[in-house]
Amino acid sequence: MDIPETLKKQFDALTIDKHPKSICISNYKGGVGKTTITTLLGYYLANKGNRVLLFDIDPQCSLSLAVGFEPAKVDKTDFTIYHLVTPNKWHNIKKVKFQEYIDDVPDKFAPKTLKIIKGAFNVDELDIEITKAIVENDRTADMLFGYCRNMLNSFKDFDYILVDCPPNKMYLTQAMLRACSYFLTVTIPDKISVYGMPRLLRWVREIPKNEKPRMLGVVLNAVNRAGGNEFGTINQQTAITDLLKAVSKDLDVNEKAIIGEHPIIARIPRLDVVSRFLSQGSEKIAWFDLKKSASEQRSVSEIMMTFVSRIEKRISEYAKI
Ligand SMILES: Nc1ncnc2c1ncn2[C@@H]1O[C@H](COP(=O)(O)OP(=O)(O)O)[C@@H](O)[C@H]1O
Ligand SMILES: [Mg+2]
Repeated sequence: MDIPETLKKQFDALTIDKHPKSICISNYKGGVGKTTITTLLGYYLANKGNRVLLFDIDPQCSLSLAVGFEPAKVDKTDFTIYHLVTPNKWHNIKKVKFQEYIDDVPDKFAPKTLKIIKGAFNVDELDIEITKAIVENDRTADMLFGYCRNMLNSFKDFDYILVDCPPNKMYLTQAMLRACSYFLTVTIPDKISVYGMPRLLRWVREIPKNEKPRMLGVVLNAVNRAGGNEFGTINQQTAITDLLKAVSKDLDVNEKAIIGEHPIIARIPRLDVVSRFLSQGSEKIAWFDLKKSASEQRSVSEIMMTFVSRIEKRISEYAKI
């Protein structure tokens, strides 16, 4: 017997299948360390033996440059994120050879299981093209979401997918956030930087329940170790208190159960070695320097390994719900 169309639609909505370990790294504020954290996480997850696929969806292409691609060459191919999600692909998903878009990272010190879907500078023109496709060709933003979800699923041979988002609400940013199973938000603990986060959380809260990415936690980046307490300066402490209030307001029941007690999943210190790690290209010597620690402090490596185990633990707890 054929399933009636209305029932089928409801059924499809209930069985939305996402890549089980796809994580968006996002915030509407720029310059807070989203790309830094995505890069660090990629290296540390891959270094543990995971197959990790990075997605660079920011038109600035910082992630692609960070893993060693030359700015002049990064998007001089037909295999970038731009080509992968352009509207004429949405209807032809069965014909898209997703594997062709995967690149090795140029950094010769990077773990071999780390791969990337490269960014493209013309991703900033996508919104105009998508709007045109919606108006002229009867496409909808939902189609882009469905396409992105299926696309991420086609990379099931990867243990983790990490999506580095731009600080905007472009169609692609929204679709990828909705298509991922989880999201991490990154902020610097100062008054101006934490401002972008409530907006992001409010928007995520409005996504239909069965499509909503689940929050893995807040990453505090560029934390000032000097001065006073565990968090650094008094200003930092005030920003963190405000941030925690905003975050706890927007958690759903499941998120409260898993991360409610400890929304902050990692604190990355403000260190020269972290900034060098992002800026060094195809020979990231700083990768080895991350293991060094000053006096009594934990090294960035130790901090990242704890961060990675918390991600693993939180994902396995969410999977039980
Ligand atoms: N923990 C840190 N310590 C020192 N510098 C940092 C740290 N995190 C980020 N930076 C620097 O801040 C700048 C912005 O970081 P980036 O990751 O590009 O932010 P976003 O992706 O949010 O725009 C970069 O120059 C980066 O090297
Ligand atoms: Mg960035």
